[in-house]
Amino acid sequence: MSMSIDKSKLEAIRAKLPELRDRRHSENSVQTVDVTRQFQLGENVIHALRGVDLTVKRGEYTSLMGPSGTGKTTLFNMIGGLDKPTAGKVFIDGVDIAQLDPFELAWLRCRKIGYIFQNFRLIPVMTALENVTLPMIFAGAKADEARDRGVDILTKVGLGDRLKHKPGRMSGGQQQRVAVARALANSPVIVLADEPTGNLDTKTGEEIIEQLSVLCRERGVTVIAATHDHKMLSVSDRVISLLDGRIEKIRMREDIDIKVGSIR
Ligand SMILES: Nc1ncnc2c1ncn2[C@@H]1O[C@H](COP(=O)(O)OP(=O)(O)OP(=O)(O)O)[C@@H](O)[C@H]1O
Ligand SMILES: [Mg+2]
Repeated sequence: MSMSIDKSKLEAIRAKLPELRDRRHSENSVQTVDVTRQFQLGENVIHALRGVDLTVKRGEYTSLMGPSGTGKTTLFNMIGGLDKPTAGKVFIDGVDIAQLDPFELAWLRCRKIGYIFQNFRLIPVMTALENVTLPMIFAGAKADEARDRGVDILTKVGLGDRLKHKPGRMSGGQQQRVAVARALANSPVIVLADEPTGNLDTKTGEEIIEQLSVLCRERGVTVIAATHDHKMLSVSDRVISLLDGRIEKIRMREDIDIKVGSIR
């Protein structure tokens, strides 16, 4: 009797699979609706974002370009739940993050989003390994599991021999790789990468790009990466150009393939 119940449950799940799979692909991973962010500096109001509507599908690789001061980091901070829009909404997996309480928001940030900061934001008193394992401990991993996984990820980014170094004893490129490793610690479904190759030599930069694109293609991770690096564009599904806090243009991969090298 119990067998038949299990079987029918299984059948029900099987029947739903294609539908679930379709939904997975069509679901929006990240959506911003008319997101505005103003900063008050003395008497001046700085319009960092002037109404950004952006929809990113699950598993899409999006590059964000634009001159310095155009709002890229500000937009990442909105999507990553680190800062709140002055107006507009941000949805992560269909959830309006303004509706989450602080605990829920912290959970979402810790479990779903891997954030590679433009200026690394590593914890200076902790070693490379401790920096990478900290988010795993927050997420409830056991110390030895976290350590093994931390060693594994750091080795993958080429820092297997720098586990016990503190950020102050590492080059900019090495710190950047620790930041990449930390962002991947909890197997995020969304990676926000704010100029992840900005401090890297060409070869290391290419390796990081390759790792992000593999995550995207093979694991369906949604990647949004701010970049000035044209090599990054060839792995992108879309390139979004920001200008003065607004989306100036959106280009698809087809256009990118033809025009690589000429995109500004
Ligand atoms: N906390 C803040 N207070 C005041 N102004 C800010 C703040 N954060 C950002 N800004 C301003 O908002 C605008 C957008 O900044 P943002 O850091 O998002 O640009 P960006 O595109 O990331 O630039 P870059 O390519 O140099 O990293 C800039 O004019 C900046 O000076
Ligand atoms: Mg920036």
